[in-house]
Amino acid sequence: MSQSVLLVQDLVYTYTKSQTVLSGITFDLISGDRVALMGATGSGKSTLLENIIGIKEPQAGKIVINNIHVEPQNLAQIRRFIGFGFQDVNDQLFMPTILEDITFGPRNYGVPKAVAIDKARELLAEFGLEAFAHRSAHELSGGQRRLVALATILALEPDILILDEPTTGLDPGWRRKLAQVLLNWQGKVVLIASHDLHWLGKVTQRALVLSEGKIVIDTKMQSLLKEPETLESFGLPFDW
Ligand SMILES: Nc1ncnc2c1ncn2[C@@H]1O[C@H](COP(=O)(O)OP(=O)(O)O)[C@@H](O)[C@H]1O
Ligand SMILES: [Mg+2]
Repeated sequence: MSQSVLLVQDLVYTYTKSQTVLSGITFDLISGDRVALMGATGSGKSTLLENIIGIKEPQAGKIVINNIHVEPQNLAQIRRFIGFGFQDVNDQLFMPTILEDITFGPRNYGVPKAVAIDKARELLAEFGLEAFAHRSAHELSGGQRRLVALATILALEPDILILDEPTTGLDPGWRRKLAQVLLNWQGKVVLIASHDLHWLGKVTQRALVLSEGKIVIDTKMQSLLKEPETLESFGLPFDW
């Protein structure tokens, strides 16, 4: 039997009484799953991810990660093995140099400085950014900043990687670079919210489609990409 890494069951979340954004979300991700979370703008993808990482608290239902319930008293423990990439990378980069941005998290968790620096340099080399180690994130392009933000997450060696719209603002070269980095990443689960369908087709194998507060499709990514009418009906036009 495959082991559940991330279980979401009957999750309900509302911002205001008049509008229920998530009205009973259920799915189970197992080790090795590479999953696209798809849905039109405003369908609730970001809200769902923020519930999973515990920065929003659901009104009903449960979330279990590595057998631990996502609840306030467990958050410190759970955040140790989840890596989360915000849509706005500027929220993630704030140190004087990108080398310090990448070593910041591991140093906070008590990793010795030399070890943290070695790991950071290894990631920068993998991403082709070693020449920028001592520059500030402000001096980098949008694509470079996004990769550095991903490096800050991977430096913590998470089991589960969760990214919100990671290709926003990236040109084709950087989209490909980001895909390569993710395909090389060894972890248990990747969950990516995006409507960049072609790119998702390269990086993920399983597709969850969110519509009207529910997961309405849970299928193989490649099969779904062969159904443009279905995608269109959920506000995901394939050719645009
Ligand atoms: N802070 C907020 N307060 C009230 N409503 C919100 C807030 N954030 C998002 N929403 C609403 O929740 C719905 C889902 O938003 P979101 O999770 O950002 O969707 P997506 O990421 O799929 O574009 C939208 O209708 C949005 O307007
Ligand atoms: Mg969003």
